[in-house]
Amino acid sequence: MAKDPLRVLVTGAAGQIGYALVPMIARGVMLGPDQPVILHMLDIPPAAEALNGVKMELVDAAFPLLKGVVASTDAVEACTGVNVAVMVGGFPRKEGMERKDVMSKNVSIYKSQASALEKHAAKDCKVLVVANPANTNALILKEFAPSIPEKNITCLTRLDHNRALGQISERLSVQVSDVKNVIIWGNHSSTQYPDVNHATVKTEGGEKPVRELVKDDEWLNSEFITTVQQRGAAIIKARKLSSALSAASSACDHIRDWVCGTSEGSWVSMGVYSDGSYNVPAGLIYSFPVTCRNGEWTIVQGLNIDDFSRKKLDLTAQELTEEKTLAYSCLS
Ligand code: NAD
Ligand code: LMR
Repeated sequence: MAKDPLRVLVTGAAGQIGYALVPMIARGVMLGPDQPVILHMLDIPPAAEALNGVKMELVDAAFPLLKGVVASTDAVEACTGVNVAVMVGGFPRKEGMERKDVMSKNVSIYKSQASALEKHAAKDCKVLVVANPANTNALILKEFAPSIPEKNITCLTRLDHNRALGQISERLSVQVSDVKNVIIWGNHSSTQYPDVNHATVKTEGGEKPVRELVKDDEWLNSEFITTVQQRGAAIIKARKLSSALSAASSACDHIRDWVCGTSEGSWVSMGVYSDGSYNVPAGLIYSFPVTCRNGEWTIVQGLNIDDFSRKKLDLTAQELTEEKTLAYSCLS
């Protein structure tokens, strides 16, 4: 029997990530090839005409899974009844700007959209915040939408996770799909810690640790980490625009694994609220290794954290604590 359509909100849908993301959702990349969807697209009034253009293109593409399109500049209309909310709308970082520069512009948006979601979205709506500062926007959304379960509010660090997989795959000349269990700890920023201590590669002789195959701890502990940390800035420098197709694709990976589950023996990175695991301050939205089953994520427990890693986990937690303070000062 055909499934009922799910309503998927994309905010900032007239922007460049939105333009890459909505066709992926309409093709079933996010929720599966047998899951019909109704797209809800929100943007601000100056972008209304462009948003209508995106709607026209969605109609023209005649996606079989797409059962309806709501294109609106009204947050209440856009949020009503949505099952999944992908929050892309906001002010992007431009060349030379630090993420903190965009903080005040974005936290006030996330405070007001929190109430629209809380009042009008489906009660079990799953929220993914993409717009930067992603972790702190998600934290503001969580704090100003207290009736949405905190487990349902997440932010995107899957792009960083995928970037780490990509770097290892290039270094070892192996298929990216054979690399697994990298971890992004912390903030979606240059303090994030891409950790390969538990990562493996599938080889003909079975799974082997990435460290054993790379045989270059100096590279893994320095250049690999900074390349992943700085990849967003490198893309901005090259394109004069922030990443879009990789962000859209990673947003689909995040929701698909959350809803459909992670594969046996592997985990992914998601920005989720901290319960104090790995001595990360409780209540921050922090990227952890998670497995997903039955639509719920669980932080992977019991991984060994060496001194090198401990310092890096603490540094990115410290930045998130400072961002939280700054966010609240922007709101007052
Ligand atoms: P963009 O400027 O092309 O698009 C943003 C869109 O948001 C615009 O259409 C704008 O009109 C709209 N918008 C602004 N305020 C809004 C509001 N209050 N409600 C709804 N829509 C609103 O930017 P982009 O390149 O699509 O990037 C979007 C965000 O994603 C940025 O914050 C960027 O830094 C972030 N980003 C995050 C990641 C990640 O991995 N977490 C990766 C890439 C980009
Ligand atoms: C990215 O990681 O590509 C984006 O978050 C852009 C940025 O602001 O770093």
